[in-house]
Amino acid sequence: MSDIAEDKKAAAKQAISFVLDDMVVGLGTGSTAFFAIKILGEKVAAGLQIKGVPTSLVTAHLAHECGIPLLAEFDKIDLTIDGADEVDPQGNLIKGGGGALTREKIVAAASEKEIVIVDFSKQVMRLGKFPLPVEVLPFGLKYVVSQLRKDFACEVRIRKSGDEAFRTDNGNYIVDCEFNQIVDPAELTVHLNNIPGVVDNGLFVGLTDLVIVGKGAGEAETILFDRKKSDARENPHHPL
Ligand code: A5P
Repeated sequence: MSDIAEDKKAAAKQAISFVLDDMVVGLGTGSTAFFAIKILGEKVAAGLQIKGVPTSLVTAHLAHECGIPLLAEFDKIDLTIDGADEVDPQGNLIKGGGGALTREKIVAAASEKEIVIVDFSKQVMRLGKFPLPVEVLPFGLKYVVSQLRKDFACEVRIRKSGDEAFRTDNGNYIVDCEFNQIVDPAELTVHLNNIPGVVDNGLFVGLTDLVIVGKGAGEAETILFDRKKSDARENPHHPL
């Protein structure tokens, strides 16, 4: 396993220690969440009683393979474990590299606690190097792309999967926007979501409770956030 994969696994392992019997657990999408779902599957096989809410069809399939019972619908989730493409010092995120951002954001919003697991390469001082994914209804694609180009000085690309346009689990398109530096994530997310045809965007602002960062040699650092205030403070002894 590569060092990065080891770091992802270390973060996943630490996150799973917060899962208790009878919890409804949000299951993230991506290569880091993969490790969490695998470890959770082992715990379920050993007797842990939980129900999962998957954030994508790929995750639903994996969870099913791992023997994790799934809920078809939900209103409240106790704890979600998910990855991210970038994390800033306030716990704001860019997500959606795998195209699951809209379901991931619904699950994060419904969750009492959102734990974000990453390797150290995802930590940034300012969001925006990773192209920001925006999910767009097919009917509005051309209009949304023209609005994005008009409103922002950024390069805009319709995501591809091979020769075809990529489609999300919701049947929509993803437009990736190269902002390079996002000065005000809260303002930008409102602006983007106000464009008719935009379903949601990959900025997660004020939705993070805990970030766990894999730091090498099986170690992981936990950083606690106040969801409402988004100010970071460390409390390694009792993070939740
Ligand atoms: C899925 O759409 C994404 O939001 C992922 O959570 C994110 O891209 C992180 O994925 P990795 O853990 O594979 O980097």
